[in-house]
Amino acid sequence: MKFSRYDKIFILCDKKVAALWLPEFVRYYGLKKTIDIVIKGGEECKTLRTVEKIWRTLVKHEADSNSLLINFGGGVICDIGGFAASCYQRGIDFINVPTTLLAMVDAAVGGKNGINFKGIKNKIGVVNFPKEVIVNKLWLSTLDERNIRSGIGEMLKYGLIADKNMLNVNADNYSDYIEKAISIKKKIVSRDAKDHRIRKILNFGHTVGHALEAVRIEEGVETTHGECVAFGMLCALRISHDILGLSEEVIKKYEKAYKSNGFSEHVDNDEIAKIIGKIHQDKKNKNGRAMFVLLGDIEKPIFDLHIPFSDIERYIY
Ligand code: GLY
Repeated sequence: MKFSRYDKIFILCDKKVAALWLPEFVRYYGLKKTIDIVIKGGEECKTLRTVEKIWRTLVKHEADSNSLLINFGGGVICDIGGFAASCYQRGIDFINVPTTLLAMVDAAVGGKNGINFKGIKNKIGVVNFPKEVIVNKLWLSTLDERNIRSGIGEMLKYGLIADKNMLNVNADNYSDYIEKAISIKKKIVSRDAKDHRIRKILNFGHTVGHALEAVRIEEGVETTHGECVAFGMLCALRISHDILGLSEEVIKKYEKAYKSNGFSEHVDNDEIAKIIGKIHQDKKNKNGRAMFVLLGDIEKPIFDLHIPFSDIERYIY
């Protein structure tokens, strides 16, 4: 990355990353006179208010088309920074420097940028790609086990939908699989950036996964995206078995990877009802049926399958 071609460089990060890594980041890339924009972080900060704060700083320091915004952080930072940069003066350059495994293999390379609005996740946003994504595993060294596992959850998804070798990923070897995961995501996104067709396969496990994540957030139960998606994939595989004849062997293979990576969600009846309630609200539903991505076989995802709500419950366990 040629940082020197920019007159002004802004770095967006949250408080945690600022304390852990910001000075090291600036030193590592030999950046001079950067303007830091430090925000609180977390999903709650994906608001118009935070975007305004970023824009205020850009205006105050007279950012223009020769300026660069570096989004240094996890998925939230990439989402919000990408959105702020894309709208500022109809778009200035931004790059993503993901600091979590999940962001490296998912948000940083997807080109989806946005904020939550009126309580609806990612309601406002744009599809626009960063000038570059800089992947440096150094930043992962301060990530806790649970957050590594969250990234592994998404990597297992690539194992099921695109390359079965990725099902061998675990906490010891994940760094060997990062590049492959990124290339799978980039390839899919390059064919359908706006999610009209093939990109939908990236939502494998997400119908139940997103619903579980929303329920847990509402309940104030600590959770991660990857854990919820890993559970959602388990349910989607069971449905795939019944509806598309997916072999038991694939399910067993996944269950082995799921358990060996320490995934173990337990959902009780109350939570199952709440998950179904959330699935009912999914904007992808059609004709009173929930949208699922299912697997015909390993590496053979099928999207836009609509399953009646009443049939879903028995697969969520
Ligand atoms: N994480 C789903 C997508 O990027 O489309």
